[in-house]
Order: sequence, then structure tokens, then C-alpha cells
Amino acid sequence: MDMRPIGVFDSGLGGLTAVRALRQILPEEQLIYFGDTARVPYGGRSRETILKYARQDVRFLRSFDLKAILIACGTVTTTSLETLQAENPLPIVGVVEPTCRRALLVTKNKKVGIIATLASIRSGAYEAVLRRLDPSVEVLGKPCPLFVPLVENGRFRPGDVVIETVAREYLEPLKAAGIDTLILGCTHYPLLTEIIRDVMGPEVTLVSAGEESAFELKRLLKAGGLRAEEGAHCGGADFYVSDQPEDFERIASVFLQENIRYAARRIDIDQY
Ligand code: DGL
Repeated sequence: MDMRPIGVFDSGLGGLTAVRALRQILPEEQLIYFGDTARVPYGGRSRETILKYARQDVRFLRSFDLKAILIACGTVTTTSLETLQAENPLPIVGVVEPTCRRALLVTKNKKVGIIATLASIRSGAYEAVLRRLDPSVEVLGKPCPLFVPLVENGRFRPGDVVIETVAREYLEPLKAAGIDTLILGCTHYPLLTEIIRDVMGPEVTLVSAGEESAFELKRLLKAGGLRAEEGAHCGGADFYVSDQPEDFERIASVFLQENIRYAARRIDIDQY
């Protein structure tokens, strides 16, 4: 048993999709979330810059005594996971491998689409893992660079003509290609689930990177004897951001819909 908190980070709000899943499947765990809202989005930046930012994010989180870190960000996972794992002596889980495993379990026609940030698609990481796990799978990747800025600006609700137009432009080619499974390879994208489902139709299964990584973390904690005492108390979540907290708090409370403390504290990420 290990009562220390789990660190979770993303470039901004997207990692809340993993937090939501963690709160459901590991309610007794204490979470410390960092959203790098001063520097979001990461997805259009170079690998070197993303790694530099990710190292600072991890250094900040490790100023707490953590038992594990969940990289709730597709962009950081696809570009920096191995480096961060090699540099830090604690379990670090990313989103790519668990998400690919789930996609291969649900696809029937073996045509899997991936939508993610430009950096993630350019890295080829999702595609490489899918092909390693099943060489016969057909993979179609599509970067969706406007999704993250729109979500961060609160433009993720059905009926919003801007996000719906952008979604149709990105997604219709994937639908036309006949995929039956679509990986939401950026943790911001599950906030667009309804809009994406509307374009893709009910016959395409959506797989969320945030959720699958939460299940992976649960397995890892269990295997390592690192779970908090089950049922003993309800863990909480502390939120930190690198820019003004108000916008984050507003969207977090809508999204998490849970009675936890949303107050986010601002930190200076350049100090780390
Ligand atoms: N949530 C991040 C991801 O999963 C968004 C990246 C970005 O900041 O562009 O890729």
C-alpha cells in the first residue's frame, strides 16, 4: 500500500480526460495535476521544445513525493516518453501503448484511424505501436491542429458552428476511407466526443487516449503494490497551472462534473 499522490500532466486541459477516468476507477488515490496553460498548445512545436517543456513539467511534479506519473498528453508521450522514463526513477505511464491495444481489440475490419496533434502524427509513434502489435492493421493518421486551441477556448460544445465545420473537414476523409475504429490520440479530443461521433456515425468506435492510460496506470499500481488503501477514504485532486487559473477552473468544473475542489494554483514553470 502506498498513500503518496500520483502526478498527472498535460499541456493544458486535455489531461482532465484522464483525471476523470482516474477519479472513477481509482477514487481513493490522491492526484496532483499540472496543466501548462502558459505554453499550450505543444502539438505544433519541435520535438526538442516539447521535451524541454516536458522535463520542466516532470521536475515541477517531482517537487512532490509522488509514487507514479501519468503523462496525460499524446504529444509528450509520442515524442518524449522513453527519455522521461530513463531520466526519472519512478513509474511513468504514457497514453500510446494502452490506447493502441484497445483499438486493436475493438476493430473488426482492421482499418484504424488516428487523430492527434501534428507532433504526434509526425512522430509515427501510434502507427509504429499498432503495427508492432498487429502487422496486418491498416492505419490512417490525420493531424487536427485546430482542435486543441478551440477546446482551450471553450469551443467544444455541439451546435458551435466553428468546431463543427473544422471537425467535418478533418474527419470526413477518414470516414470515407472506411475505418471502423478511431483513436482520439490527443487527450483534448474526448471533449469533442459528441461532435466527432456526429461526423463519424455510430458504426465507428472511438477510443480515448486519456481513459485507456488511466486503466494502464491502475494495472501498474496494482502489480507494483502501489495502490492506496481501497475504500478507506476518498482521494482528492490538486490542480496547478502555469497561467491564470480562472479559465481552467471554469472548464474543469464543467468537464469533471464532480464535487472536488477545482481551485487551481498558478506556478512559475520557468523555475523548474
Ligand atoms: N493534450 C495534448 C495531447 O494529448 C495536446 C497537445 C497540445 O498542446 O497541442 O496531445
